[in-house]
Amino acid sequence: MTLSPQWLDELRSRTTLSSLIGRTVKVQKAGREFKACCPFHNEKTPSFTINDEKGFYHCFGCGAHGDAIRWMTDQRGLSFMDAVKDLAAEAQMEVPEPDPRAAQRQETRATLHDVMAAAQDWFVAQFNGVEGAAAREYLKNRGITESTIRKFGFGYAPDSRGRLKDALSVHGRDQLVGAGLLIKVDGRDPYDRFRGRLMIPIRDPRGRVIAFGGRILGEGEPKYLNSPDTPLFDKGRTLYNLDKASPASRQTGRILVVEGYMDAIALSQAGFEDVVAPLGTALTEHQIERIWKMVDAPILCFDGDNAGQKAAMRAALRALPILRPSHSLNFIAMPTGQDPDDLIRSEGSQAFASLINQPQTLGDKVWQVEYEAQPLNTPETKAGLKKRLSDHVRDIADQDIAQHYRQDFQERYEDAFFTKRDNRSANSQQGHRQFAGTRGKFNSRYVSFKPMNDTTSVLLDGYDLRIAKAILGGLIRHPSQISKHFEALTLFRLADPQMQALLSELIRAAMRKEMLDMQGLLTILAETDCYNVAKGLLRADALNFTFNRKLPDAAPSDYLERAHNDLAEAIKVITARPGLEAALAEATRRVQDHLDEESYAEQQRLRQAKQEFHERLVELTQIDDVV
Ligand code: UTP
Ligand code: MN
Repeated sequence: MTLSPQWLDELRSRTTLSSLIGRTVKVQKAGREFKACCPFHNEKTPSFTINDEKGFYHCFGCGAHGDAIRWMTDQRGLSFMDAVKDLAAEAQMEVPEPDPRAAQRQETRATLHDVMAAAQDWFVAQFNGVEGAAAREYLKNRGITESTIRKFGFGYAPDSRGRLKDALSVHGRDQLVGAGLLIKVDGRDPYDRFRGRLMIPIRDPRGRVIAFGGRILGEGEPKYLNSPDTPLFDKGRTLYNLDKASPASRQTGRILVVEGYMDAIALSQAGFEDVVAPLGTALTEHQIERIWKMVDAPILCFDGDNAGQKAAMRAALRALPILRPSHSLNFIAMPTGQDPDDLIRSEGSQAFASLINQPQTLGDKVWQVEYEAQPLNTPETKAGLKKRLSDHVRDIADQDIAQHYRQDFQERYEDAFFTKRDNRSANSQQGHRQFAGTRGKFNSRYVSFKPMNDTTSVLLDGYDLRIAKAILGGLIRHPSQISKHFEALTLFRLADPQMQALLSELIRAAMRKEMLDMQGLLTILAETDCYNVAKGLLRADALNFTFNRKLPDAAPSDYLERAHNDLAEAIKVITARPGLEAALAEATRRVQDHLDEESYAEQQRLRQAKQEFHERLVELTQIDDVV
């Protein structure tokens, strides 16, 4: 459709820019113009100016500039046509329709929009009525507040095959079927699609309801039932919560992508409003492109379990062919067994905030997944890794980007399997590079990210995090021990990102140099961001394990041995504990569900083991008179 410049001018002149903008930000009259704090960047004193006469806005801080249409596309995130339609509706202007078929399609969609709006109102009324009690209770138990309920428009579909059909009968059967609200099977009487479900409206970028997700209350299959694709709803092109996330992202410069509706809602409630979710399918190219219109590199927050990590890799591989300069994807893996909603409920929003502070890049992700895909213990498997990586690089259409990836993967590959060039003089025997031992196993770049193997990674938090800090302090004092515990240490996932970063540096340093003493290590750390954290750990006097003490030069060798043993013991305890806790929780649940001799004995055994672990830790900290 082409719109004449005259028509667009008319549209602009009928729109009062200051009141349009005034709906989003507070505007103040300043002479003949209006001023506001700029919605495109963060500021305390207003440098954003609106001129109604000329019909444009300008920010003297960040340079944002445009007219009413531009406002709707840049601030509200609408497409040009949607922006024009919204403005035209308000200015009471008819948008010219180019040809009859398009006009017809437009007509159908308009009616479907009415149907969906009516259905949304009806579901909300049921939610607030007598029958909605269980749905309201369900959300309350999930910690969803009243205002979130209103904001996201939760509704309820009663458990009946004909209630919606009757209530919305004025719209006509065909429309209700066309909107996906009724199911029609071969000629028989259509019936309500959503029955006995909590209803979550899915909106288009303009905030209009175009589909629904219906969650079963409690257990059952399928957990979510979604609207089918309709003239309004194309699953692969829609992102849940885009209407709210798009304006929010203009403030934060960030978009978070999560897997589920409830994750998006929980994050939004916790203050992360710049969040979207695909609709139960892998992220499509369309969805990635749509997100790139808002930000350069969204953060994909997928479950740490196998399915979640597979989905993350699938998104990564879909992005490769369409990468363009400055645009990419970032990744974080949620702690195993927790989605963002769970994490926020159990650990608070701070825990989530610190996770998203340290995302993996696309390159990190692809490397890590391929690196972990299979054991790399033969020349053939190592070459297999190289082949897979170069296949991925070949998928990248943009040649500049491809070239950088090729080089980056090449470097990682060499780091992983070959001794460094500058080490060659030390190994003058070797004519050329050779396969190295542990170097391959603990690749330096790879280690700086959380281990992804969801069955074994160990999340250390709360009290365990304090012990972990003591262990880090001990490793700094006794660097020779780092390489002895590589295996366990790479599985640590410290809830404090600074500590996680320090741990990565320690491992990296120990990999580079076999023989390290504390001074040598500190010299290496001085070149990183972790130096102060490391020094802090050495000073901390609350940590009184043997390995945290400064031993005099003349200390008998068994003191040193004792410190090393205790360090090993502490690492062992802390590695085993989260698994033990989980097993105990599981056993306790079993006992509660079903009390029998066997499960009771198992639970007692685990409880005893936990107690012993705890005592062992306490014991370790209570050796006061070593030196
Ligand atoms: P999850 O099962 O991870 O959903 O599926 P969730 O949001 O954590 O669900 P809660 O917390 O148990 O309520 C992620 C997404 O996959 C789609 C939905 O979009 C869901 O939000 N899905 C899941 C379906 O479409 N159908 C299903 O049966 C399950
Ligand atoms: Mn969930």
